[in-house]
Amino acid sequence: MSVIIKNGRVVTATDDYIADVFIEGETVSAIGKNLPHKADQTIDATGKLVFPGGIDPHVHLDLPFMGTFSSDNYETGTKAALFGGTTSLIDFAIQTQGKSMYNAVEEWNKKSEGNALCDYSYHLAVTDFNDQTRHEVKKLIKDGITSFKTFMAYKGALMVDDGQMVGLMHEVKEQGGMVTVHATNGDMIDHLIAKHRSESKMSPLYHYLSQPEITEAEASGRFVDMAYYTDVPAYIVHLTCEGALNQVRDASRRNQKVFVETCIQYLLLDASLYESDGFEGSKWVMSPPLRQKKDQATLWAGLNQGLVQVVGTDHCPFYMKQKQMGENDFSRIPNGHPAIEHRVELLYSEGVRKNRISINKFVEATSTNAAKIFGMFPKKGTIAVGSDADIVIFDPNEQHKISAKTHHHNCDYSGYEGWDVTGKCKTVLLRGKVAIDNNEAKVNKGYGQFIRRKQLSKVI
Ligand code: URP
Ligand code: ZN
Ligand code: ZN
Repeated sequence: MSVIIKNGRVVTATDDYIADVFIEGETVSAIGKNLPHKADQTIDATGKLVFPGGIDPHVHLDLPFMGTFSSDNYETGTKAALFGGTTSLIDFAIQTQGKSMYNAVEEWNKKSEGNALCDYSYHLAVTDFNDQTRHEVKKLIKDGITSFKTFMAYKGALMVDDGQMVGLMHEVKEQGGMVTVHATNGDMIDHLIAKHRSESKMSPLYHYLSQPEITEAEASGRFVDMAYYTDVPAYIVHLTCEGALNQVRDASRRNQKVFVETCIQYLLLDASLYESDGFEGSKWVMSPPLRQKKDQATLWAGLNQGLVQVVGTDHCPFYMKQKQMGENDFSRIPNGHPAIEHRVELLYSEGVRKNRISINKFVEATSTNAAKIFGMFPKKGTIAVGSDADIVIFDPNEQHKISAKTHHHNCDYSGYEGWDVTGKCKTVLLRGKVAIDNNEAKVNKGYGQFIRRKQLSKVI
């Protein structure tokens, strides 16, 4: 099967030109002006952008969490991803304390195999690092799972202490992987939660007030120091605020490189939403919480300064019925919200169209940098001869509104209800096959493949 995309504006992290893209099978085989190639399928992309399929490196599908499960499973979550121009994602296979890391991979394979529509990989979330589990790191990296996630919060469920962190870092450094982190100070947060509960302060606003900026800045600095000491490649997930980014900025003064991901919600939404009426604020209960406008400014600047390389989502949806588990106690509200479908379009609409970032930066942040950092480049993350034909054909002028009535997330609300967006993913190809066309899915569950990742690249 061959496809030719004619006359589109091809945009990558470095280029921007009008060309045809010829695809044979799963990969791009020629790019050029007025290509003479005959193809089985021709797509006219005149007036459209043609950019690499998005890669969301922070997604939770079917996650057992806070007494329930995130509401998108591999079928619904990967389908929503494709509708929004994301062709690959990285989920977190979470080790259960007391069990092995491979047990987590087996559990996640049961969720994903035969169910995914887009391509996917896992970070291994290490919750119990000890002499029994240490040896698994080497084999996991050989099997293509090269990044190891840690939590400095959620004590008793997911959190590791600093001893485990440093032990893991030494091992991962030796075997050639990357350590990533949810960097907030779990003990401080638990103290503040207990304080607010003892004062009968139970509304969603107190979720926010239990995780002030300093809890994230402190943990980020501690993580950065431990990574410096062990010299392990390091990546901070869902960084939200000025104080935390300044820890990374400071580390660069001693020639340390720490990769940073923020998420689309931290660029666009702020903590005033926690003051919404009644229980409404629970829609945005996530960890870390939304921050202040000054933090949004820091994150946009951080993207342009190259201090923030990736924009993910931390997609982790829950129905309002699930959120209501915390109706009388904010600390029982499942943390997370739906976002995977909107990341690419929102970053284009709010970032590129509003001149906050360039179009090449947009491609870098939604696709190329995640591919490079997590060992998928140049198979993923670019449009080049030999790369997987994961391609979005995008109308930069089409206007639409976000709504839970029309989104594809398995969730009954949207954190962006009523938002106007300019720019729409019209056709999405995954490995050479049209996966989405004019608002219809053209692939079925099972088309998505597991991505075995290479060791990490320093080229970024
Ligand atoms: O609120 C969030 N972020 N939920 C998912 C778990 C995590 O901390 O990433
Ligand atoms: Zn987290
Ligand atoms: Zn997360």
